Amino acid sequence: MDKILIEGGRSLQGSISVSGSKNAALPILVSSLLTDGMSEYEHVPQLRDIQSTIDLLMHLGARVSRRAGRVCIDAGGLDSHEAPYDLVRRMRASILVLGPLLARLKKARVSLPGGCAIGARPINLHLKGMERLGATIELKHGYVEARAKQLRGAEIYFDVATVGGTENLMMAASLAEGQTILRNAAREPEITALADVLNAMGADVQGAGSSVITINGVEALMPAKTPIIPDRIEAGTFMVAAALTGGDIRVENCEPEHLGASINKLRLAGAEVTVGNRSIQVSSTGRPTGVDIKTQPFPGFPTDMQAQFMVLMALAEGQSLISENIFENRFIHVSELKRMGADITINGNTAMVRGVGKLSGAPVMATDLRASASLVLAGLVADGTTEISRIYHLDRGYEALEEKFFQLGAAIKRVKE
Ligand code: EPU
Repeated sequence: MDKILIEGGRSLQGSISVSGSKNAALPILVSSLLTDGMSEYEHVPQLRDIQSTIDLLMHLGARVSRRAGRVCIDAGGLDSHEAPYDLVRRMRASILVLGPLLARLKKARVSLPGGCAIGARPINLHLKGMERLGATIELKHGYVEARAKQLRGAEIYFDVATVGGTENLMMAASLAEGQTILRNAAREPEITALADVLNAMGADVQGAGSSVITINGVEALMPAKTPIIPDRIEAGTFMVAAALTGGDIRVENCEPEHLGASINKLRLAGAEVTVGNRSIQVSSTGRPTGVDIKTQPFPGFPTDMQAQFMVLMALAEGQSLISENIFENRFIHVSELKRMGADITINGNTAMVRGVGKLSGAPVMATDLRASASLVLAGLVADGTTEISRIYHLDRGYEALEEKFFQLGAAIKRVKE
């Protein structure tokens, strides 16, 4: 297994270009199941989760070709309606095939994803929504078995605004008969990106980006050619790196409107942030100031940036309260950060971070994607060497992360064990 070695203490300078968004690409690639022609996507990041999605689509019978950031998918000859355990356990987002398979093949058998390092992450709202559209759902032998003669539009109220649930239902409803209204829908930019692709395929999806989405079902969809939006979490991670290392980084090819909450907190923490049309420049000289953070659905502060900001707060002047309100176990980075000298106390869903003067490099272990990113950030600023193992988590969601940090002047390398 690969490891990442970092010699901390360098101030990062220069510019990087943000890759395509993992969380936008996953549902968009899956949406190719809704049509039987050749869909084409550009700026698809090269990540393990993308490969897992491609493997799943090929298992279902789609023909996929991939060349650098371009992925072509022909889902004309689907010959399976089953997402097996082996593929689903590699990536929970595999549950997103449920809606498209039900809509297109009228049946789907998808392994239940099971627990996850950051929380229980149930899929009850996906399943209830499909039932509202007329599907019958049974849970058997660890699988969701779903059938529907014809999906029919319905009004669906989500108890919790769920990103994956909203995406799954949007895809299923696009080929349902009649109108579907999703209430308390998630408003993340990835939802709007999926709606744009569905509309380019001939669907009628209105209101994406707000909490009420209306979908008028159509009889068939056609393939589309679309680019993937930039990854707002990757952009945010580099923005924090600039503030943390007293550096000056221009984050290019990003969408500033998707990053409002992070920009706001960086400014409050004392960083200078200049917003351009498709770029954000972040620089910092002094020690950051502690700020409180509460994770919330978009446009609130994203849970996917919480671990990275915690590193900034760990070195800030004063103390900060960080509340995690989306996932119940998303403080798994805390014990590793404490081993590097951070002063953090967890009480329920809140972490109290008392800023310290410095962190010290240590061997640490990655436990999930964003936790791993926070350990890289901590390593960049810590005294001495930080050795991060189990970095396959990073490879699930950050394209060429260590190469990009190297370009910015970090002493970082990947080593094979
Ligand atoms: N929830 C339910 N029932 C459901 C679905 C969700 O109770 O049926 C709860 C979850 O347990 C959680 C909350 O609703 O407490 C929100 O979960 P959501 O469904 O929105 O999350 P997700 O779709 O599983 C996506 C991203 C996550 C990101 C969250 C929140 C993808 C592939 N994943 O997950 O990304 O943290 O939205 O923004 O889009 C990551 O990239 O590191 C990552 C974990």
